[in-house]
Amino acid sequence: MPGDRVFTTTTTNNQNLHTDERTPKVKRENCGGVEGREWGQSPVGLTRLSGSNTIKRFARVVQANGVQANGDPIDACRREDTLRMDLYMTVLRPLLFSGFNADPEWLHNRSLALLEALDREQQETPTDRLVDFVARACTWRDRRLAQTLWGLEFPNPLGLAAGFDKDGVAAGFWQYLGFGAAELGTVTAQAQPGNPSPRLFRLPRDRAVLNRMGFNNQGSAALRDRLAQRRVKPTIPIGINLGKSKATPLEQAADDYLTSFRRLYDWGDYFAVNVSSPNTPGLRSLQDREPLSRILATLQQANPDRKPLLVKIAPDLSWEAIATVVELARTYELAGIIATNTTIRRDRLQTQIVRTTGQAVAAEAGGISGAPLGDRATAVVRFLWQQTGGTLPIIGVGGIFTATDAWEKIAAGASLLQLYTGWVYGGPLSAKRILSGLSARLQVAGYANLSDAVGCEASA
Ligand SMILES: Cc1cc2nc3c(=O)[nH]c(=O)nc-3n(C[C@H](O)[C@H](O)[C@H](O)COP(=O)(O)O)c2cc1C
Repeated sequence: MPGDRVFTTTTTNNQNLHTDERTPKVKRENCGGVEGREWGQSPVGLTRLSGSNTIKRFARVVQANGVQANGDPIDACRREDTLRMDLYMTVLRPLLFSGFNADPEWLHNRSLALLEALDREQQETPTDRLVDFVARACTWRDRRLAQTLWGLEFPNPLGLAAGFDKDGVAAGFWQYLGFGAAELGTVTAQAQPGNPSPRLFRLPRDRAVLNRMGFNNQGSAALRDRLAQRRVKPTIPIGINLGKSKATPLEQAADDYLTSFRRLYDWGDYFAVNVSSPNTPGLRSLQDREPLSRILATLQQANPDRKPLLVKIAPDLSWEAIATVVELARTYELAGIIATNTTIRRDRLQTQIVRTTGQAVAAEAGGISGAPLGDRATAVVRFLWQQTGGTLPIIGVGGIFTATDAWEKIAAGASLLQLYTGWVYGGPLSAKRILSGLSARLQVAGYANLSDAVGCEASA
């Protein structure tokens, strides 16, 4: 019966999530990351791979400064991470962010084109050495971070957030960059160009991004065709984030979502209903009870396999409105809630003027992501956890840059996490850095696996 369903999740150990009986706390002697460390284990392989002196020197530094097995685990991870971060954070990022003065969207598209090429290369030559090198450098394996949710196996909790790979051009490559899942989209039923440029701005003083992309995408039919043509299926769960086409009136929103849902049904492991982007006129009003009910009812009627359906909400909703979404999540048997999308608030920003446009940041349309969003997104995760008694899986997203940020979201009640802006600022080693830090945190807190820690600081 709709509404009677008890939301349950399992971990790889078949333990129920969020129960009060936690696994006995087992303290480990060494940094939890040591056993999963890959790059540090084999920096020589890295040296062999390339004749570049910079890489050779970097490999030697990493080798010489490997994690100290008997030191403080969090500190040890941090020390190693600092070294790993160097190349991107100290050389590449300053060049990309200001040295070339490049348009952020142009840079984004170039990076995506590179990942698309690597993804294609990997499908054609599964033993490709460059891809192997990237995977060794960027991934982190620790069984304690793995979870099975909705029957899907997540090798780690950190997913790529929606918006980065809207058209799924690099759908198979995110796993090599350390992500435990990738959410493609937002796609809409109709292909659309999005808002006029410039529409993407970095706010480095705030470690934030302002965007008003407006669901630029090639449409859900193109995404379906691209996923169908893949030779190799990604090994991590693939979520598909659905939005409403700009040209479709709000009253016909449910049919627009349904068109994309049907087209992509066979290709998504889970689906997210995006009713929270601030960049499509009126979209956020679809979070209200009536329109959201209509969308969710329509999609669940077209969901014979009961594929996990989630809703992604805005951080700017009132507690009352969020409680309504929770109620609808029960009624329509949603698999979870994604919290949160970008915020329209500007009050936490230090940036006053957007450099590229010369306009006051308060006057620029769009949503803010990154550090200024972090606390609010965590508060929403905690509220959701409390409202549901921890029985409804939550994907926490907003302002995650470090393992500490990630841990806060997990402790507040997030079973899974997503990253966008933190990856832009932190570079390709971000996932590994955050995950290795989470391994260390688990060890220090004495949890046998990550799912035991979910919601540990959320009880009122
Ligand atoms: C440039 C940009 C584009 C985005 N596009 C989408 C999108 O298409 N659909 C969506 O649900 N969220 C989108 N988001 C929101 C992110 O998925 C995420 O919810 C938000 O940025 C907060 O996470 P972060 O602080 O890690 O960036 C976008 C964010 C950015 C910065």
